[in-house]
Amino acid sequence: MNKKPVAILISGRGSNMSALIEATRDRDYPVEIVGVISNRADAKGLGIAAAAGIETKVIAPKDHPGKEALDAALDEALRAMGAEIVCLAGYMRLLTPGFVEKWAGRIINIHPSLLPLFKGLETHRRAIEAGMRVHGCTVHFVTAEMDDGPIIAQAVVPVLPADGEDDLTRRVLAVEHQLYPLALKLVAEGKARMTGGRTVFSGSFNGSGSLVAPIAGEEAFDIESLARMTP
Ligand code: GAR
Repeated sequence: MNKKPVAILISGRGSNMSALIEATRDRDYPVEIVGVISNRADAKGLGIAAAAGIETKVIAPKDHPGKEALDAALDEALRAMGAEIVCLAGYMRLLTPGFVEKWAGRIINIHPSLLPLFKGLETHRRAIEAGMRVHGCTVHFVTAEMDDGPIIAQAVVPVLPADGEDDLTRRVLAVEHQLYPLALKLVAEGKARMTGGRTVFSGSFNGSGSLVAPIAGEEAFDIESLARMTP
């Protein structure tokens, strides 16, 4: 099988990186992880990647005179690894427009909200404060704007009345780990492409029904059971 060489950029824990590495254990998954790069030497994910036998590298701001120089080093390292697709997985630096331009359509990010809602940080706290009844995560093509760019895939979770920030963080993170491998597969197979500022899909897709939240008591979490509920 012809596998796409993919590099992952991280800044910390690397749980999404781990989910992508895990996905590649399936021999039908169309991706090979060729390297993991962090902007922080203390990123926990670096040890996890190394233990999985993946090349790791630190490209830190303090070793480069400015953002352009850092991103030039990043570009060089990615090319040396042979990467054809780049996955941002908790990479907490804004990339320069020049770098993004070079990798346009070949760089994707996961963000813990239903974009375009809640760009930036503390998305779970802000979703609770806004009174959202659903929340989730998004995988999108990267453009020069932060947490922007054509959406590839989203996953939705309910926000329950008793939820605190930690509950919601856990619930969203669990679906992030499912969504990112699915979205990367679509991009690696050429079934989701960035064209003219949009994501264009090929192949067949299905999905029906709706999510409604909250559903009281023991009712199942779908629109059919909501319809059966008596007021
Ligand atoms: C994840 O929740 C990811 O969606 C988020 O950082 C976390 C990294 O966790 N990314 C962003 O907020 C990007 N704007 P991880 O290191 O365990 O994957």
